[in-house]
Amino acid sequence: MKFARFLVALVVLALASSVATAGDPSPLQDFCVAINDPKDAVFVNGKFCMDPKLATAKDFSFSGLNIPRDTVNKVGSNVTLLNVDQIPGLNTLGISLARIDYAPNGGLNPPHTHPRGTEILVVVEGTLYVGFVTSNPDNRFISKVLYPGDVFVFPIGLIHFQLNIAKTPAVAFAGLSSQNPGTITIANAVFGSDPPISPDVLAKAFQLDSKIVSYLQKQFGGNNK
Ligand SMILES: *[C@@H]1O[C@H](CO)[C@@H](O)[C@H](O)[C@H]1NC(C)=O
Repeated sequence: MKFARFLVALVVLALASSVATAGDPSPLQDFCVAINDPKDAVFVNGKFCMDPKLATAKDFSFSGLNIPRDTVNKVGSNVTLLNVDQIPGLNTLGISLARIDYAPNGGLNPPHTHPRGTEILVVVEGTLYVGFVTSNPDNRFISKVLYPGDVFVFPIGLIHFQLNIAKTPAVAFAGLSSQNPGTITIANAVFGSDPPISPDVLAKAFQLDSKIVSYLQKQFGGNNK
């Protein structure tokens, strides 16, 4: 039953990707499996491409996305992203896939953006409160509570999050319109940058006392990224 729902989720994601028009640039050939060693390469299109005759199913596949991830961490969530680094056959195809696990009672995928990809998410298990904020000057907050089978779109570049508001674990899958959508987690980027941003900048920008800024910089410094 769980696996059937997982398959439905994947089909939804596949259909979504086939109608998307705003992914990475057109591949210009069937595929361009990414390789590091140019010895067997024939085309160059951002990365070296494997000779297409040498490509096999393993270059286009990944197993184990049905296995729940460990969510015991500060935010109570775990994102497993399959981009071009995990599936080299995604190179130039403008799409990637994520599994997101949320701990019960408040597991949070904290506010973040994907600079290169729109995201379409489907809830497979649990109850998620999700939302995104539009760009300046409106900064409109668009949000919804999602149940299994519900789908939500986070437009490219906009700050968004998901929060598990139920007493049970939650699981979602998401398609992203880039082979490498990138992620900027707002709190980590702002308060945990390396080296740190001057506290004066953050105190003024966030209208905070500088003591609170240094507290936040301690929270997000070190190995919290
Ligand atoms: C995510 O889950 C994997 C496998 O359960 C685990 O190895 C990894 O440490 C977890 N990541 C975080 C951030 O908790």
